[in-house]
Amino acid sequence: MSVCGIEKLEFGVEDLALCSKFMTDFGLSPLSGQRHHFHTLSGAQIALYPLDCGELPEAFESGSTLRRVTWGVRDSAALARIAEKLQGHTSFQQLNDALYCCDPNGMALRIEVSRQQEVSLPVLPLNQWGDMRRIDQPSPVYSYATPINIGHVVFFVNDLAATERFYREVLGFHVSDRYINRAVFLRAEQRGGHHSLFLLQLPSGKRGLNHVAFNVRDIHEVIGGGLAMNKQHWSTFIGPGRHPVSSAYFWYVNSPTGGAFEYYTNDDWLTERWQPRELEHSLVSFTEWAVEGGIDYTTRRQQQPEVL
Ligand SMILES: [Fe+2]
Repeated sequence: MSVCGIEKLEFGVEDLALCSKFMTDFGLSPLSGQRHHFHTLSGAQIALYPLDCGELPEAFESGSTLRRVTWGVRDSAALARIAEKLQGHTSFQQLNDALYCCDPNGMALRIEVSRQQEVSLPVLPLNQWGDMRRIDQPSPVYSYATPINIGHVVFFVNDLAATERFYREVLGFHVSDRYINRAVFLRAEQRGGHHSLFLLQLPSGKRGLNHVAFNVRDIHEVIGGGLAMNKQHWSTFIGPGRHPVSSAYFWYVNSPTGGAFEYYTNDDWLTERWQPRELEHSLVSFTEWAVEGGIDYTTRRQQQPEVL
């Protein structure tokens, strides 16, 4: 109905130089003329500020973390519809063609008309039994990843029901799947990738950032990106691996901004015909398989834990 994707993520961080290096190592490009700003191929942005920067909204957890999410809408009519729904919310403000508010979990949001571009890239198909589409052509090997866009964000929430209701009723998100009494996967557009937002409630009720995720072209670029990060001595949280719940291949790298940065690809593409599933949360329903701690760039084998 309204929101079409993530435009920008703003972080407050303890070490600007370290976080900036992480962004370029991750494959993001510096934005010309703006220090500590980076962009994906689509033009989605990551902006870094000092932790105590007065221009940033209040943090929902201590330390380096995400301070604001900007969601894009397709046009000004969609923006006006959301402005109407936000009337009466205590945190709501409208300034210079953008809407500002706070979600029930304490994350500051900006909503504006999207300025991202469609990205068209050559992607080679997989050969599968009875479906040979790549003829006389080897499969690619990537030496680094170049993230296409920001596909989703994941938060720990302290009131799952209220936060889900806000994103569905005010911003028009759709439920894709659910872990019963635990978590919900939401997608901004009815026709789109499996989730733009994943909300997870821990027994502790802790609020915070879990990870942010970037689409790359194919499984080979997930692997090339993860290996390149290992080569630069960034540590892997988990990956490579695959989630059965969205079908995505993933690799999560620990980030100095707080949370993890994820490369992913091949998530399910859903439409109005998709029926959300009510799943039990378990290791098997969340992770079909995964490499703990990643793969070492030099040996091309599983990263060995450091021996003290
Ligand atoms: Fe993810």
